Amino acid sequence: MHQYEGDLGVECEFCHARNSETKRNDFPSDANPVKDKARLMIKMTDDLNAKYISQLSDHKSADAVTCGTCHRGMSHPEPFVPKPHEHGNPPPGAPGATPQPSTPPQ
Ligand code: HEC
Ligand code: HEC
Repeated sequence: MHQYEGDLGVECEFCHARNSETKRNDFPSDANPVKDKARLMIKMTDDLNAKYISQLSDHKSADAVTCGTCHRGMSHPEPFVPKPHEHGNPPPGAPGATPQPSTPPQ
């Protein structure tokens, strides 16, 4: 449970309902809909490790995929946007660089 907090950057109440009378978290309660989403995610993560990662002949650890693999400390993972290619623009004068415009004839 504590690992979920760090992996998602949340507190227990993100998934667990609060009992309004005792003002404490009611852990067995399913009143918070996020708890069911988390159940689905737990099943998905287990399946990723057990059914798929386990088929890699050289997989390194039993639980290669964790909540943090995707969530990276965020409750809602941001879409990944790859950086633009950096090798497309060689410095001026490098092999393959566009010739510098020469000074126009006087
Ligand atoms: C990302 C969502 C999430 C977070 C955050 C989270 N939990 Fe849970 N927790 C669950 C889910 C889902 C279950 C039910 C698991 C099941 O039904 O198999 C659960 C079950 C529990 C239970 C067992 C309840 C019972 O049925 O007896 C306890 C106790 C608990 N959590 C404590 C905590 C504490 C303490 C924290 C904060 C440190 C915490 N949880 C944070 C999702 C979460
Ligand atoms: C393979 C990537 C991946 C893994 C692993 C993963 N998640 Fe998620 N999770 C997502 C994505 C993507 C979303 C957002 C889906 C959407 O709504 O577009 C999400 C959404 C959620 C939500 C709903 C958040 C909201 O704002 O409603 C919860 C809760 C959650 N994940 C918990 C978990 C927990 C707990 C684990 C580990 C047991 C886990 N996730 C593992 C990708 C992942």
